[in-house]
Amino acid sequence: MNIYFLGGGNMAAAIAGGLVKESGYHVHIANRGAEKRERLERELGVAVSEKLPELNADDVLILAVKPQDMQAACADVQTNGALVLSVAAGLSVDTLSRYLNGTRRIIRVMPNTPGRIGLGVSGMFAAEGVSEEDKQIAARIMSATGQVVWLDEEDRIHAVTGISGSGPAYVFYLLNALKEAAVQQGFQPDEAHRLSLAVFKGAVALAEQTGEDFELLQQNVTSKGGTTHEAIETFKARRVAEAIEAGVQACVARSQEIEKQFRL
Ligand SMILES: NC(=O)c1ccc[n+]([C@@H]2O[C@H](COP(=O)([O-])OP(=O)(O)OC[C@H]3O[C@@H](n4cnc5c(N)ncnc54)[C@H](OP(=O)(O)O)[C@@H]3O)[C@@H](O)[C@H]2O)c1
Repeated sequence: MNIYFLGGGNMAAAIAGGLVKESGYHVHIANRGAEKRERLERELGVAVSEKLPELNADDVLILAVKPQDMQAACADVQTNGALVLSVAAGLSVDTLSRYLNGTRRIIRVMPNTPGRIGLGVSGMFAAEGVSEEDKQIAARIMSATGQVVWLDEEDRIHAVTGISGSGPAYVFYLLNALKEAAVQQGFQPDEAHRLSLAVFKGAVALAEQTGEDFELLQQNVTSKGGTTHEAIETFKARRVAEAIEAGVQACVARSQEIEKQFRL
């Protein structure tokens, strides 16, 4: 199957990097700048060009340019019935359809950056009328970067953006906060880095392997009057959980706002 990318930046490289490890895909990336084209050709061994070649109905086109560049990038694209996947944040099926001469064979995807190492999560929404077979093709493509989650309503893309799309940045923020606390406790920055990483890695692996509820896992290591209890009570008093909830809500609201801008 031929997979064509329009845009060869970070997200395209992450998805294409997963696809080239699997058999059955011929990957071609159209990118504006020559520098990235050369790098993609060298590092991934994919075909590259400045513009998209002619597509046909058996092909898959993955739109991976920035939302603000999408309309211009799509201006001279003829999909010729190809299945279209879009990873662009904030561009609805209606907007994309308008940019692409009315095609409705569109699936929106909200991936995240751990997809680069095959540990991503993609929220996916298929436009009305897209076949089950197309959904399976799209899910197979995106599973080269990790897990996929189907959404019944397009609006749910905002919620996925708030949780998994932007989520890795929240984790890096918390990792950094723990690292800074470690430095404050007298560890050298490289030791603090290693310690914080080991804590997150170990805790996530434990939660995954035991399959236990997160709250229960936390309570199991929090005995009243003990040291961890003091830390957790401090987090509760400072409303850390509420702050995270508010952060997610702000992200979702921003995603909704951006989508409205492109609807015009
Ligand atoms: N990064 C993330 O974590 C993430 C997560 C979810 C969704 N997304 C979505 O993924 C999309 C791409 O993001 P990104 O981070 O990969 O951006 P990026 O690294 O800036 O890549 C965009 C690429 O598009 C190319 N481009 C722009 N106009 C073009 C045109 N007319 N024809 C061909 N190529 C063109 C650019 O080329 P030059 O630079 O060579 O000019 C650039 O390489 C965005 O829509 C974003 O919303 C990203």
